[in-house]
Amino acid sequence: MSARKPFFGANWKMHKGPSETRAFVRAFAELHSARPESTVVFFPPAISVPAFRESASDREDLELGVQDVHQEPDGAHTGAISASMAADAGATWGLAGHSERRREFGDDDARVAAKVERLLEAGVRPLLCVGETLEERDEGRLASVLRRQLSAVLERLPADAGAGLVVAYEPVWAIGTGRTASPSDASEAHAVVREALGGHLGGGAADAVPILYGGSVKPHNVDELLAAPGVDGALVGGASLDPEAFARICAAPFGDAP
Ligand code: PGA
Repeated sequence: MSARKPFFGANWKMHKGPSETRAFVRAFAELHSARPESTVVFFPPAISVPAFRESASDREDLELGVQDVHQEPDGAHTGAISASMAADAGATWGLAGHSERRREFGDDDARVAAKVERLLEAGVRPLLCVGETLEERDEGRLASVLRRQLSAVLERLPADAGAGLVVAYEPVWAIGTGRTASPSDASEAHAVVREALGGHLGGGAADAVPILYGGSVKPHNVDELLAAPGVDGALVGGASLDPEAFARICAAPFGDAP
């Protein structure tokens, strides 16, 4: 059994307002019993954070995160939320670097790094997403893309910041497409991520950072993905919108050796 706890993240993207959030939590709480050996974190839209918090108030095992924060601590940024607001609203996790943010909203490496800094300053644990496009993979640039995305963030972090970090490897071509990386593709990419973490944080600190796989994780493929060496959990989009599917995913056996 790995020293790292298995980690399951639900990235709801632009789905579920407050009413649907409440209904989901009610249904999921019936289906999923707390597993002390694992971490389960939900990333609802920011507007549904209070509804999630209220409806999960008796379930401390269901943790809460935001999908995005602004790279500045505050100011005239209409529509945005800051990391300290997220913390004030009860979020203990924040996504940064998701490929949809990179592609649709222009979050480049420098901005992703600034967002991770703001999250850490606010005491919110960052879940940093990295991953290559199909074109980059076909050109043989998988490792260099992952190293670039990680270095941009890790170079700016204080030496002890690794303690709070989680990384998700999410190949862009597998997100929302129904195409999943094979377990061996995932292991190969996770090894690159682990090595890059070690280069910046030192081996001991890097070993403590969970590395999740994300990209079309479903009830039918989660077991084999989690059994792949180096895969510490899953970041789930589409399948996390359905309480039964996500409860099944969170029940996946976990047996990776560190
Ligand atoms: P998906 O999304 O499970 O729908 O592919 C994963 C993600 O974007 O985190």
